[in-house]
Amino acid sequence: MSAIAAPSIACKAPQVAVIGAGKVGSTLAQRITEKNLADVVLLDIVEGLPQGIALDLYEAQGLERHDKKILGTNDYADTVGSDIVVITAGLPRKPGMSRDDLLYTNAKIVTHAAKQAIAHSPNAIVIVVTNPLDVMTYLAWKATGLSQNHVMGMGGVLDSSRLRSFIALETGATTGDISTFVLGGHGDLMVPIPRYCTVSGVPITEFLEPEAIARLMERTKNGGAEIVKLLKTGSAFYAPASSVCYMVESLILNQSRLLPAAVYLDGQYGLTDLFLGVPCRLGCSGVEQIVEIQLTEEELAQLHRSAAAVKEGIDKAIAKTDL
Ligand code: NAI
Ligand code: 2OP
Repeated sequence: MSAIAAPSIACKAPQVAVIGAGKVGSTLAQRITEKNLADVVLLDIVEGLPQGIALDLYEAQGLERHDKKILGTNDYADTVGSDIVVITAGLPRKPGMSRDDLLYTNAKIVTHAAKQAIAHSPNAIVIVVTNPLDVMTYLAWKATGLSQNHVMGMGGVLDSSRLRSFIALETGATTGDISTFVLGGHGDLMVPIPRYCTVSGVPITEFLEPEAIARLMERTKNGGAEIVKLLKTGSAFYAPASSVCYMVESLILNQSRLLPAAVYLDGQYGLTDLFLGVPCRLGCSGVEQIVEIQLTEEELAQLHRSAAAVKEGIDKAIAKTDL
């Protein structure tokens, strides 16, 4: 047999390290591999957990007809060379808990995970999922020392997707025709923007009374708590995993999708030195652009109220860490 020529195209699939093999992390690993997007390294502190999930997912590979590798591990060395690191490690909410109740415990977990992951994949783009989301994204950015456009948090895609589903239920339209935007922190003060919600480009005000719109916006703000109350143990994970996968896809396939994500603000919307959900474009270089849409005075005031709550969380968390 003649010698095999050196490859002229990249032989290696993109690799995503998912830190935290709980509900969100394991479902995300499934989504990414079954969409044939990237190889996944799934890491957790619990011995056997990521290995068991990886084996279970691998045993479905032939049936799901993808060819992506999935490795379960407790060792960050196995995540080496990852293109994207997704941090889902940390505690989820219990009924009656707010996302901020998770602040100090998750701050330690996320800071440690971010440092370890980036030590092995210094060129990776980081997506944070752990709550309280906007604060944890800031901590991950500080801990990694990465440039601002390489760190982002997932919150707005999920909140916007929930709003889309609620509008579909109310109007009878199909979700695929509905476009929505929820800005601000991924918390109780998030800012759904009804003016930017449409059904096939037609503003929702053509289909819904103001009372119904207000009710759907309120349901969206409580969307996470509604699921926590129903599940009783743990929080939502199917829609969250789909939301992260949507972002991963835009990065890996360089789609430049316009979506709401927690990104570093340096003067945009009159806000500085925090991560907050605003419209941005995601491509292979990370956050390619932050889009400053026109907001009314009231919408901007709501965004600033949400930002103030995030800033307070950042200050509390920073005071208790060595960042
Ligand atoms: P889970 O409890 O099912 O999974 C968390 C996993 O993290 C566990 O397997 C645990 O062993 C692991 N873990 C804990 N400390 C670790 C460490 N130091 N290193 C590595 N792994 C560690 O929780 P779930 O449902 O997966 O949620 C994870 C986080 O994501 C929570 O903070 C939750 O609030 C948040 N979340 C955020 C959403 C968002 O929209 N940003 C949506 C859904 C969840
Ligand atoms: C959610 O919105 C818990 O942040 C998580 O479902």
